Amino acid sequence: MVMVSSALFAPFSLRNARLGNRSVLAPMQMYMAEAGIVQDWHVHHLAKYAVGGFGLVFTEALAVEERGRNTYGDLGVWHDGQIDGLRRLADAVRMHGAVPAAQLWHSGPKAARQRPWEGYGPLGAAEAERGEAPWQPVAPSGEAKVTGWHAPRALTEAEVAGVIEAFAQGARRCLEAGFDVIEVHAGHGYLVHSFYSPLGNDRDDAFGGSLDRRMRFPVEVARAIRRFWPEDKPLFFRLSCIDDAPDGWSLEDSIELAAHLKAEGVDLIDCSSGGIGAPPTLGSAPRPHGFQVPFAATLRAATGMPTMAVGLIRHAAHAEAILAEGHADLICIAREALFNPHWPLQAAVALEGEAGYRRWPASYGWWLERRARNLAKLDAAANAGEPHLRSDRRETA
Ligand SMILES: Cc1cc2nc3c(=O)[nH]c(=O)nc-3n(C[C@H](O)[C@H](O)[C@H](O)COP(=O)(O)O)c2cc1C
Repeated sequence: MVMVSSALFAPFSLRNARLGNRSVLAPMQMYMAEAGIVQDWHVHHLAKYAVGGFGLVFTEALAVEERGRNTYGDLGVWHDGQIDGLRRLADAVRMHGAVPAAQLWHSGPKAARQRPWEGYGPLGAAEAERGEAPWQPVAPSGEAKVTGWHAPRALTEAEVAGVIEAFAQGARRCLEAGFDVIEVHAGHGYLVHSFYSPLGNDRDDAFGGSLDRRMRFPVEVARAIRRFWPEDKPLFFRLSCIDDAPDGWSLEDSIELAAHLKAEGVDLIDCSSGGIGAPPTLGSAPRPHGFQVPFAATLRAATGMPTMAVGLIRHAAHAEAILAEGHADLICIAREALFNPHWPLQAAVALEGEAGYRRWPASYGWWLERRARNLAKLDAAANAGEPHLRSDRRETA
């Protein structure tokens, strides 16, 4: 059988990491951790996406400091006792043929929250009663950006240096755990984004004020990570490419920041947006499919860096067009993967027809390829005058 080759299934190499295809399981917090430690649940959860055909599989955001968690259910990387659990994640992903990636993060001003299904608001008396008391969030500035949320405390310059070091130590632990890619979550109104955005940062010291001084925090985080994260392993940054608010961070600012990050050894920009002064962004305003792809396209063209597109990419043909038109190098899938963990495998069939089953694990694909042929025969018979044989016919009883 001739293999049709789709852009989605073209391999991709960065430094020494070799991805079998361009689909990436997005970092997604699951709120299932105990004291920041990986549970069996997380291992099964992530392994499923490697089986499902994703070339690169991200952990959820791993908090680099305990106070940098969103919720009590978040995973962390703030002490060495967390490495063994993380190693189980990296091993499970690799065993099923995907490249394991870790996302490092500090929630900053958005810390101390309820889990989404508990309301997503700030922790309060009811949660304290059951052992989940709020703690003091920290940020560049000491002002609550979301009405009703805990007001953060502004970090001192010495504390800023401590958080930068926490990112570096997080990278060291990810290396020991066996991950091949690290991404810094520098978007969505969390700590790193709050430093570079004028909407998050009212400081007038070395980390605030001018664009250069606001960019210092992410640049120093990248530099600190590269102290431990080896030359042969890729480093990604997820940016909120625009604040989408008056006087906010702009796409031009992102281009400038990306150039500085590139000089520090950052390889790829994961292009997201928004988050400052907003409760969790998803689920509020409806967004069109691929609404952030233009950011990935602009950054790719302006900086020459590879980019990853994310945000309501659901259909194989859409993902294929984004790649084929040169708007991005990788396609990052979040909610659609919750809906369908075999998204890449199904995309292979959608893009390459029956040959796409050859990309499935043989123990699934062998059967499905034959079933597909039989279903096609049923449809041929239905078209020839036996409508009851149609393969998509529903039994109505
Ligand atoms: C359950 C859930 C958890 C998420 N957790 C993270 C996270 O840990 N880190 C992050 O950068 N983005 C996180 N996001 C955002 C996604 O990575 C992604 O950017 C967003 O959902 C848009 O992509 P989609 O339309 O494919 O869902 C999360 C999204 C969801 C639905």
